[in-house]
Amino acid sequence: MKKQTVVVLDFGGQYNQLIARRVREHNVYCEVKSYKTPIDEIRAMAPQGIIFTGGPKSVYLEDSPRMDGEIFTLGVPILGICYGAQFLVYGLGGEIGAANADSAAEFGRTDCNMDTSSPLLKGLRKKSVVWMSHNDYIKKLPEGFRSIAHSDKCPYGAIENAQKKFYGTQFHPEVNHTEQGFDMLGNFLFNVCKCTPDWTMENYAETATRELRAKIGNGKALLALSGGVDSSVACKLLANAIGEQLTCIFVDHGLMRKNEGDEVEAAFADSGVHFVRVNAGPRFLSKLAGVSDPERKRKIIGEEFIRVFEEEAEKIGKVDFLVQGTIYPDVIESGLGDAAVIKSHHNVGGLPDYVDFKEIVEPLRLLFKDEVRALGAALGLSDKLVWRQPFPGPGLAIRIIGDITPEKVAVLQDADAIFREEIAAAGLDRNINQYFAVLTNMRSVGVMGDGRTYDYTLALRGVSTTDFMTADFSRIPYDVLEKISTRIVNEVQHINRIVYDITSKPPATIEWE
Ligand code: XMP
Repeated sequence: MKKQTVVVLDFGGQYNQLIARRVREHNVYCEVKSYKTPIDEIRAMAPQGIIFTGGPKSVYLEDSPRMDGEIFTLGVPILGICYGAQFLVYGLGGEIGAANADSAAEFGRTDCNMDTSSPLLKGLRKKSVVWMSHNDYIKKLPEGFRSIAHSDKCPYGAIENAQKKFYGTQFHPEVNHTEQGFDMLGNFLFNVCKCTPDWTMENYAETATRELRAKIGNGKALLALSGGVDSSVACKLLANAIGEQLTCIFVDHGLMRKNEGDEVEAAFADSGVHFVRVNAGPRFLSKLAGVSDPERKRKIIGEEFIRVFEEEAEKIGKVDFLVQGTIYPDVIESGLGDAAVIKSHHNVGGLPDYVDFKEIVEPLRLLFKDEVRALGAALGLSDKLVWRQPFPGPGLAIRIIGDITPEKVAVLQDADAIFREEIAAAGLDRNINQYFAVLTNMRSVGVMGDGRTYDYTLALRGVSTTDFMTADFSRIPYDVLEKISTRIVNEVQHINRIVYDITSKPPATIEWE
């Protein structure tokens, strides 16, 4: 089945992924492509609609990103956003001017008047707040265009050429600050492009299963299962598609959270795949004995992980396919065009050279994180795995400050489990993006019963964040913190003091090491 596609043409703006996510939230499939993509490639995709994103440049500069003018002759509806709208105007013979603070430049929330007779703005309120962020402005419209929205400063807040189905918004409909932005995008997709909302994870599961079967045939595939959302969903999808042709290797380094290794095993042991759990805890702990430096801990764990995986993979012999849990943001961030290169993600660039395989399979390559979760739910994975918060590869090793011993691991596992239980009981588990306990290396004096104690201080950390690059500490209610504290000191030995970390990132990081 050929799926309908909307192309999001990336001109290097900061909200490009957000545009794509909003389109998919309308259950319409879209792909982000660089503005450098050859026009024939775009034509071959037979898109139902095209969206030009924003971008940091001025469209009239020599080196600004531009698309071949042929894009306007494809007969496909176009929505230009911010720079995209300016490019549309410029490319069709209109004029763009440089605004200054006194004239048409606008930043932030702006009142806008809408002409709801336009298909783009149909059914919306006539006045609403939009999010503006532009230095340049549309000075003169090309022939055939008219204004369909304006603010005090900006006569061309949104524009249309209804006959050609070309639309532009100077504001950003994709951000939440634009009150009716989601509906505007919906209007473009359904009123203008006539898309059908058929992009659902149930459909995706079906199609992907079929395609994986066709691709893998009778071949053998290998997957490193960490128990994280991405590898778990990839595993479940592959299990449905090829069953025992898939081997999953789950390296349990003994530094998982309490019972987590067993939970992962329980979720996959009967799923029809060849499931290998390697209980390598003692091996990792002996390598880590006496090591306090965080980066050395990471390095040791990373290297040991590869050794264990390699040994197991060798027992299986040559495999045809190595499965990776790469997701769409990794693909986008690894660089669609010059402007979009943010970082080179390890999942996309570097392939492991320690496994003998012919080809790589990335069944989640086109999905955003929220879609991966929805797919997991559609495939019947438990909430626990689907909603698992991020957990660092080195596990509790970087949450035990100083050297690591089996006793400390057990203390931290118990304390962390109580923390998580109480956060879930308070109904906060989906509001706090990451929360965990840290066993600090500090001991202090306490009094328990009639006796003096000299034991460890436990730190609790909870953060709210969207991208984990910056984070704010979570305002966990005092009564919840009190309950957690009381339970931990009563139920876990060797902890006599508990502190809550009230630093944000920056200046702190989320993890303590
Ligand atoms: P930081 O501590 O850098 O953490 O603010 C940001 C996010 O990255 C996770 N993290 C790691 N993940 N290996 C990983 O796989 C690591 O060595 C590592 N260090 C930090 C951290 O849990 C948070 O989600």
